[in-house]
Amino acid sequence: MSSLAVVGTVYQAPTAEALEVLPDVVVSVDAVGSITSVVPAGSPEGDVAVASAAQVHRLSPSQRLLPGLVDLHIHAPQWPQLGTGLDLPLERWLFEYTFPLEARYADLGFAREVWAHMVPTLLAHGTTTAVYFATVHEPATSALAEQCVRSGQRAFVGRVAMDLDVPDWYCDASAAEGVAASRRSVDDIRALGSPLVQPIITPRFVPACSDELLRGLGQLAAETGALVQTHCSESVWEHGAVLERYGHSDTTALSTMGLLREGTVLAHGNHLGSDDLPLIRAAGAGVAHCPLSNTYFANGVFPTRRVLDAGVRVGLGTDIAGGAEPGLLHQCALAIDVSRSVADIDAVTAFHLGTVGGAGVLGLPVGVLAPGFQFDAIVVDTAGSALRAWDGIDDHARVFEKIVRLARPVDVVDVWVAGTRVAGTRQ
Ligand code: GUN
Ligand code: FE
Repeated sequence: MSSLAVVGTVYQAPTAEALEVLPDVVVSVDAVGSITSVVPAGSPEGDVAVASAAQVHRLSPSQRLLPGLVDLHIHAPQWPQLGTGLDLPLERWLFEYTFPLEARYADLGFAREVWAHMVPTLLAHGTTTAVYFATVHEPATSALAEQCVRSGQRAFVGRVAMDLDVPDWYCDASAAEGVAASRRSVDDIRALGSPLVQPIITPRFVPACSDELLRGLGQLAAETGALVQTHCSESVWEHGAVLERYGHSDTTALSTMGLLREGTVLAHGNHLGSDDLPLIRAAGAGVAHCPLSNTYFANGVFPTRRVLDAGVRVGLGTDIAGGAEPGLLHQCALAIDVSRSVADIDAVTAFHLGTVGGAGVLGLPVGVLAPGFQFDAIVVDTAGSALRAWDGIDDHARVFEKIVRLARPVDVVDVWVAGTRVAGTRQ
């Protein structure tokens, strides 16, 4: 007997090339949130699936079931600055706006207040998996992981490590202290014992980390098996600073330090060179493409098509608050928009990146609704808002495209993570 059966029409993008439409199916989910079967409604197997479910939820004709979105890159402490402060280039934005804000999370009460507002809001946008940079503070970082557990969001939560050329009021006291604090944070988050929330080792970016810190965190990743996230070749200034320091790129530096590993999330990657791509591919790492943030900070356009063609895993990120928009679905539309000045991608490819792409970087069984995958899913209603499907005009492909371009939280009526309903406008 399954614990939940959801009946309706599924849109998803298991490949970057083709939209998969499963018209009127029954998706059965077991007690640990795994999908056990996807069968046609009204068929003999469909009738059995519905009859044997503890709870049945039927979509209305205007609603569609889609996999939840995987946001590969969020700076949680920058949530109060979302929508502001983008008048400066990255190197000034960090010091004048961002580090002073992040330093405030020494106050655990403030941290808890922000996390309690942010995590449910992101779930309401359909972000079922989130990869977070927290701050250097261990208590605030642990509190973020606890909030994700409480709200039921699948997440990777990273304590930020940084000890070089950063303010002395917001940094690790030494490389050794940065590694030790990161190790304690990994242990603390694992001690929560949640199947949804995991730690991730987080050197902020190469320019803010000494060699000793980078190497120590590489060793910590090898010892603990925790994933790694960092920024990589984001802007001309940042990419150039690393070239000047080492005579080679961020990717090579991260590789040398033991940080380019299976599942490492490299945020941005706008200035990745053709020598970098085979290294990333061979390591099994991936890139978080953050189209809106890149428009402000990158001094270039991420070459999505070229990076995919090189066999490198790519997902999408909001880069809150470098990107002033909280929803990942909207980021799919922006990925299409910015691709127009290099090599075009379409709505199917963009949605594939925002679901399967991100899941592939992280090695998570999410991103498609198929047996063996976790039931992380959203329902979008196409009846009410600017997003309106018109009978006799819009076929499945057009309705899907409208969802990617136009869906907003008001249209997201249900959000499930691991089979548990965690958000949505349906009362
Ligand atoms: N590089 C180092 N820190 C940051 C950050 O907070 N945001 C972005 N976009 N780039 C960074
Ligand atoms: Fe970032």
